[in-house]
Amino acid sequence: MNESILVIGATGYLGRHLVAELHARGYHVRALARSRERAEGPGPFGSPSLAGLVDDWAVGDVTDPETTEGICDGADRVVSALGVTRQKADPWDIDFRANLAVLRDAERADIRSFCYVSVLHSETGTSLTVRAKTAFAEALRRSHVPHQLINPSGYFSDLTDLLTMARVGVSMHIGTGATRLSPIHGIDLAQFIVDRVPDAPGEWDVGGPDTLTYRQLENLAFSAVGKKARSIGIAPSLLGPAGWIADRVSPRIGNLTRFFSEGLVTDAVAPPTGTHHIADYFREQTNGTAA
Ligand SMILES: NC(=O)c1ccc[n+]([C@@H]2O[C@H](COP(=O)([O-])OP(=O)(O)OC[C@H]3O[C@@H](n4cnc5c(N)ncnc54)[C@H](OP(=O)(O)O)[C@@H]3O)[C@@H](O)[C@H]2O)c1
Repeated sequence: MNESILVIGATGYLGRHLVAELHARGYHVRALARSRERAEGPGPFGSPSLAGLVDDWAVGDVTDPETTEGICDGADRVVSALGVTRQKADPWDIDFRANLAVLRDAERADIRSFCYVSVLHSETGTSLTVRAKTAFAEALRRSHVPHQLINPSGYFSDLTDLLTMARVGVSMHIGTGATRLSPIHGIDLAQFIVDRVPDAPGEWDVGGPDTLTYRQLENLAFSAVGKKARSIGIAPSLLGPAGWIADRVSPRIGNLTRFFSEGLVTDAVAPPTGTHHIADYFREQTNGTAA
């Protein structure tokens, strides 16, 4: 019989690609969603609808103990792409506590493995998001459930902000924009993860096939929208004061400011995988609407 995989964070950009890949490989997929109707609609950043890809729905809020108690019954393994990105929630409630609640249930149900998608260089980040992820990764390492920890570079979805800025006509980077990234498409990352699901426990850093500087990525975005590249370098010395001000606006704004500004100054390059190129993705996203 095919193994049953519980996917949490199934309705996000990566989660949808994971469900599609698991379904394509014949796994029995159980997906957690807050709304089945929304999950069966189109996904963010071109990720697929989950209609017809899920064998068994678990519908509920992951922060509700009634949702997580017993959620692993009948599942062989868990894959988690659960985390706060654009949602208005505290990363400690979702990235840490909600993942931990599912891990506790996985321990009770004695499942075969728990695969968690964290983030590259989580050990150095100071944002709430990264600290909450690091804390959960540590809880997972100490669990008796065999773990797989995936540390990806930035996703293509996150870089669509560059297209938004290019459409406006000006983009921004920190310093000279020489920070290097190896961004990865959700399809390539999902394949990498699902390849590892039946394998031995382990931890992997992973990036996409191209390594580019932030300036090069900006130029690709301007080229995709058909505009002349115009970008502004922000002095790195302004990051500290910006973080201080953002913290006083709200913890959420402070967290996002730290998360993104640290991302703009820290190289995020990992062993390459996949076949999808960011230049093609930018062109697809503009869908022939270049100026
Ligand atoms: N984006 C990147 O560049 C990047 C890079 C490295 C690592 N990561 C990590 O990879 C994971 C997946 O990223 P992604 O871009 O696919 O994120 P995403 O699109 O925002 O998906 C996050 C998932 O978590 C769920 N979730 C978030 N807050 C929730 C809440 N309050 N209650 C219930 N569910 C909630 C979302 O459910 P809803 O659909 O209902 O909101 C969604 O299924 C995240 O942990 C992220 O931090 C991302």
